[in-house]
Amino acid sequence: MSKKPVWIDTDAGVDDAVALLTAVYLEREGLLEIRGVSAVCGNAKLERTFENARNVLCLAGREEIPVFPGAGKPLLVELSTAAYVHGEDGLGGAVIPPSPAGRESMPAWDALYRSARECAGELELILLGPETNAAIALRKYPDLPKYLKRILIMGGAEVGGNKTPAAEYNIWADPHGAQTVFKSGIPVIMCGLDVTMQAQLLPEELQEIESYDSRGCRLFKESTGSAIELYRQSGLEGFFAHDACPVLYAAYPEMFQGEPSGVFVETRGSITRGKTVCDRITDIKFGVRNAIVVHGVDRDWFSRVILAALKAV
Ligand code: RIB
Ligand code: CA
Repeated sequence: MSKKPVWIDTDAGVDDAVALLTAVYLEREGLLEIRGVSAVCGNAKLERTFENARNVLCLAGREEIPVFPGAGKPLLVELSTAAYVHGEDGLGGAVIPPSPAGRESMPAWDALYRSARECAGELELILLGPETNAAIALRKYPDLPKYLKRILIMGGAEVGGNKTPAAEYNIWADPHGAQTVFKSGIPVIMCGLDVTMQAQLLPEELQEIESYDSRGCRLFKESTGSAIELYRQSGLEGFFAHDACPVLYAAYPEMFQGEPSGVFVETRGSITRGKTVCDRITDIKFGVRNAIVVHGVDRDWFSRVILAALKAV
């Protein structure tokens, strides 16, 4: 099987770090080829997410993967970080060595377009945060859809939300950016809360991670405390590896279940801002099915791969 070329755009927070470590593991397994990474504001300010992405890749021994700086604010709305989950530093207070790699200065959208052209239509774009960078790239380069095979996102929810009762954080944080992506004509794999809240690492699996002394397991232990406590206060146990879902979907689509759906974003609502309206189970009012809405995962298989990745780094 040939390696799938992927580009990962991330607001390098706690679960983004798990996703990046998993992507590096899947690269070593011969399933993915990480062509580039870009940072966007979201969980934390861009200055932090940029350094976090660089440093996590370095921790995984892949400091040579280029990381490009993207947007420091959403397209139109004000930046609202998720520091209450990820800390001001974005990694929950975990301190990891700084990457020695040089800092890229090319903007994320230009670097993404260059890579998409190089991959001649085979590049798969994985979005792990607010979709601002992807939206800027799509608006600056109208022919970009010719060169992207598909876009896999952690974002949205057919039902419910985690930022508001109607919206998931990544979409809520930049609804106009997300709408640009869903209207691009590029097939979207939407790993929303419908599936990511099944992507649960159970308490006994957290104990296994705790007991293993790899750099990946140590980073997980040192960065996830606040997130795990927040879940516990909501009556949920364990840790939800939201951002690892689109990464694993790229490598193992058979791990997941989903259905074609029309999906568009509420950009004007006050209480519904960022709602991903999914036209899947009605009589198809949107007339297009621009996304696969993922709603199931083989959790045991999912967690086996995550634990293997954290142990391997
Ligand atoms: O709602 C979960 C998403 O918001 C994840 O991508 C997490 O990293 C935060 O960005
Ligand atoms: Ca994220």
